[in-house]
Amino acid sequence: MTPRRQRKVAIVGAGAVGATFAYALAQSGLPDEIVLIDQNKALARGQVLDLAHGRPFFPAVAIRQGDPADYHDAQVIVITAGAAQRPGETRLQLLQKNAAIVRSIVDQVVQQDSRGVMLIVTNPVDVMTYVALQRAGSERARVLGSGTLLDSARLRHLLSAHCGVDIHNVHAYVLGEHGDSEFAAWSMTHIAGIPIDQFCAICGRCQDWQAERNHIEQQVRDSAYHIIDYKGATCFAVGLALVRITRAILRGENSVLTVSTRLEGEFGLEDVCLSVPCIVSTRGVERIIVSKLPEGEAAALSASAAVLKEAMRQLVVRRQHSG
Ligand SMILES: NC(=O)c1ccc[n+]([C@@H]2O[C@H](COP(=O)([O-])OP(=O)(O)OC[C@H]3O[C@@H](n4cnc5c(N)ncnc54)[C@H](O)[C@@H]3O)[C@@H](O)[C@H]2O)c1
Repeated sequence: MTPRRQRKVAIVGAGAVGATFAYALAQSGLPDEIVLIDQNKALARGQVLDLAHGRPFFPAVAIRQGDPADYHDAQVIVITAGAAQRPGETRLQLLQKNAAIVRSIVDQVVQQDSRGVMLIVTNPVDVMTYVALQRAGSERARVLGSGTLLDSARLRHLLSAHCGVDIHNVHAYVLGEHGDSEFAAWSMTHIAGIPIDQFCAICGRCQDWQAERNHIEQQVRDSAYHIIDYKGATCFAVGLALVRITRAILRGENSVLTVSTRLEGEFGLEDVCLSVPCIVSTRGVERIIVSKLPEGEAAALSASAAVLKEAMRQLVVRRQHSG
């Protein structure tokens, strides 16, 4: 019997998101090896020691501090490295800074002749996914962003509470930008195969489902702002969403997940990364599930694409101006 290939995940950025993801991933039993890389070497060392001391309680896994040479044989390289927004700094300045960080990491991945799938988490994640894909010059499957998987989880959480149904039986997707222009694809939302609008009529738990729907969608959009106000950063749910995507890749699961991928004509859109339902497996985004969206949702997806294209245009303009 040929031995099973070692499963190795490299996490770049050992801050709140990177370390929480590492912690959840170590408990999942999925990888044989987790390496943490951060430009702040002391932080990476501290996180690795803290995690490694949990090994008696994790399924078997090696956890260590890594360096760019580790990209070579990692199946998944998860990029959470980023600069935090400073007081007075605009989102555009942050965009510029994080784009430079992502480009420098992708260059190292390419230098190491890596075949690994790159999973981008750094915000604004859709623009960073585009930047990474362009820099890597690879097929689009191999570079994906965590996109709206987290937002879809938030939507499912709220619907589950509202309808009084186990969250695992609530199927719901947020599409578009991971950000202000995202929207709930109500046409794809169902419980027990019953479209959500019909389900709510049967269930009779609220007076005005349309108003409730709008309120739930707004809550999803505002979630990150609220959490950041309360505790400074989001890390737990995103860490678990990253485990879910990593699992689909390492185990070749062909899972339907809303991840950020570059559209090449699907849904009538081109040359922009945003989230739509995708089949995620060993190669990354194996396939995009294209369907005919109702008019309102198609318009919302186009509007989200326009917002992202404008951010990318500004990024290019700024790059040209800064020489
Ligand atoms: N996509 C999502 O759903 C989602 C959710 C939450 C956070 N985020 C984003 O994830 C990123 C990380 O968030 P965080 O809270 O962990 O931030 P953090 O500041 O706690 O950690 C970021 C880490 O990146 C490191 N870093 C910076 N430049 C680097 C480089 N060139 N090479 C290696 N490491 C480098 C920093 O030293 C720091 O430790 C942010 O951009 C945040 O907005 C995305």
